[in-house]
Amino acid sequence: MAEPGFPASSRADAGRTAGREVTAVSAEGARGHWVEVLADHLGSAYLRYSFTKGTEQEVAFLVEALGLGPGDRVLDVGCGPGRHAHALGRRGIEVVGVDVSSRFVELAAEGAPAGVTFRQGDARALAFDAEFDAAVSLCQGALGLGGPDGALASDRAVLAGMARALRPGGRLAASAFSAYFQVRWLEDTDAFDAATGVNHERSVLRSETGAEAEHDLWTTCFTPRELTLLAEGAGLTVEGIWSVTPGAYAANPPTVDSHEFLLVAARPDDGRRRPQ
Ligand SMILES: C[S@@+](CC[C@H](N)C(=O)[O-])C[C@H]1O[C@@H](n2cnc3c(N)ncnc32)[C@H](O)[C@@H]1O
Repeated sequence: MAEPGFPASSRADAGRTAGREVTAVSAEGARGHWVEVLADHLGSAYLRYSFTKGTEQEVAFLVEALGLGPGDRVLDVGCGPGRHAHALGRRGIEVVGVDVSSRFVELAAEGAPAGVTFRQGDARALAFDAEFDAAVSLCQGALGLGGPDGALASDRAVLAGMARALRPGGRLAASAFSAYFQVRWLEDTDAFDAATGVNHERSVLRSETGAEAEHDLWTTCFTPRELTLLAEGAGLTVEGIWSVTPGAYAANPPTVDSHEFLLVAARPDDGRRRPQ
């Protein structure tokens, strides 16, 4: 896996164990999502990839950009093994992490700081309502992972659920692959579908025990304009779309040379407060 993002799963039963809240929140999730097979194979080996090494810088940037402080509540969508959630939790921020992979949820729950919990669930069917000061989806945590046809409905549903989860005035940060970069720097082995914006790779991924397996990876790529249209369609006000690199997040204007864009948007403030 050269780029940030992803290099039959067990279904968690509803219930709660230490640091881990397990909720099947959607019928579609219960049928399985293609990323679960990858997550099951990778396990903690996911955290060996270089793009996961910049967590502290990314979180420091996000705390500033989203105006977060101790006691605030953040929803981490497609949280994976919970690296951003843990780093936010160490800063006194409460986090609920949601991921469709029960393997990743198990890993995330290990050693979670106080106030940081995780749930197995599908980001396309989030059921939170005005509960969070911010919502993040990083390193393609669900956004752009709709599968081979790049289901627009999937991206719309993820952003709508995140927008609904925000209190009025709350902010969202979501990273997404750049279509410009993908086309400009396309590798021979990649197949970019110009109609859907989906990049298909077949990659050999190594598990935590060193077992290798070949997996399909489908990643929908976006332009800043598409991200703006999607965010506005979810009722959000776009505050910025920046070109970012893992471990070096900054408010840089969009270019055609960065892997990722970071969308920052806000739920309009209609005066309603978060329920206490
Ligand atoms: C590339 S990983 C990013 C994980 C984490 N945000 C990070 O930055 O390391 C993508 C994550 O999104 C999760 N994911 C993809 N589609 C999802 C969905 N529909 N609902 C919930 N999680 C999803 C995957 O299971 C995986 O953990």
